[in-house]
Amino acid sequence: MAERRVDPEDGATYTWDELSQFYNRKYKKKEIEAYWETCKPAKRTRKAKAEEEPKAKAKSKAKAKVKAKAEAAEPKAKAKVKAKAKAVPKAKETKPSGNFKVVVCGGCGGIGQPMALLMAMDKNVKELCIYDLDISPMPPAGVAQDLIHLERKCSVKGYVGKVNEPPVNFMEECLTGCHLVLIPAGLPRKPGQTRDDLFKINADIAKGIVEACAKYCPEAILAMIVNPVNSIVPAMAELYKKKGLDPLKIIGVSTLDVVRANKFVAEETNKNPNYISVPVIGGHAGATILPVFSQDKAGKLLPAEKVPDMDKHVQDAGTDVVNAKNGKGSATLSMAYAGARFGSAILSGLSGRKRTECAYCASTVTDLPYFAQKVVLGATGIEKVLPLGELNEHETKRLEEVKTQLKGEIDTGLAYAVANSLA
Ligand SMILES: NC(=O)c1ccc[n+]([C@@H]2O[C@H](COP(=O)([O-])OP(=O)(O)OC[C@H]3O[C@@H](n4cnc5c(N)ncnc54)[C@H](O)[C@@H]3O)[C@@H](O)[C@H]2O)c1
Repeated sequence: MAERRVDPEDGATYTWDELSQFYNRKYKKKEIEAYWETCKPAKRTRKAKAEEEPKAKAKSKAKAKVKAKAEAAEPKAKAKVKAKAKAVPKAKETKPSGNFKVVVCGGCGGIGQPMALLMAMDKNVKELCIYDLDISPMPPAGVAQDLIHLERKCSVKGYVGKVNEPPVNFMEECLTGCHLVLIPAGLPRKPGQTRDDLFKINADIAKGIVEACAKYCPEAILAMIVNPVNSIVPAMAELYKKKGLDPLKIIGVSTLDVVRANKFVAEETNKNPNYISVPVIGGHAGATILPVFSQDKAGKLLPAEKVPDMDKHVQDAGTDVVNAKNGKGSATLSMAYAGARFGSAILSGLSGRKRTECAYCASTVTDLPYFAQKVVLGATGIEKVLPLGELNEHETKRLEEVKTQLKGEIDTGLAYAVANSLA
């Protein structure tokens, strides 16, 4: 009869096989072995045996195969027990899924529709609102009716705003009680259009929506996808500040740069992109995009002479999509994926499971007031803006280029905030 020990986490008794099977995916084998050593041997009365067995069965259901051999592992474990006292695994707290309300503004557009689809599939989303204008070729109610049929817990509803009228007139129900507003509402850049021209149009669109958020959901996180992010985010965050609200609630979504950097490194190194995480810092346009390959274990394998090309490849990836689409659109599907990845990370943080992502936001990690870097997402949104970490020679040189270009784009946003106010 295999030895049984008491797991202090739940007071029930288990054999080594059952315990190691239960914790298998959550902890390293050595940690489980050390934990086993700390579990007291069970006193086995008949009654206890009868009570414990069903619980043990439930735990052992978790996986069919058990490779760990307690006998073989024991001597090793004993030797490590003292040293590993700190590594005692605690059963991970299982937090319930969140029940969040999410709004997608511009939800009928090229990015908006697929991003709404991905958000409707997120287990933390209970209510999804699709907001768009009356001039949109696709009515928001149509997108909502389509998504409502997914076998997911979330309800979906469409809301329409009138073009050239303030969104605040149409968004009360849609925004009230919402936790996350994803904002791809705005025009994509047309060939030949300057970033400043695009800024003038999109800043007014963003301002209308941000104004409505300030009124109906001032605590919500506003994820800005609308371009030019480098100027729109400082403009909107400063307007929030002027209104007495938290500027860190306004976050620029730069996730697509990270997604692209990860994928390109995976292709180049033949590694699985799931295990690649290249921080991309700076801004979200052209030369302001700085992938820090040296901080990823696959990225740092890139030969030094390849790094400048890979860096440029990430910077130009958006243009590559526009060219491949013959100028008929920009990145929509990959952006929807990236936006939903970021949206899900925010909801994860709000539900108590912290996540670290790169994002463009108010920052003090450089001498610029806005910057993209890693941030910790927690129960209130951005909980911490993380330092840049170590940069190699190429990255240090590029950082100077990033800052020079980004400064001008931030200044454009700051000037807009000086000249405007939220109602
Ligand atoms: N952050 C990024 O990485 C990234 C990547 C790609 C595109 N973008 C930007 O995202 C934005 C949207 O791109 P798209 O390809 O989805 O464009 P799109 O034209 O296909 O969709 C935009 C949608 O926004 C709606 N809209 C416009 N004004 C609005 C308003 N005042 N209120 C509500 N809805 C409004 C439109 O009706 C349309 O449905 C662009 O600014 C684009 O440059 C950002």
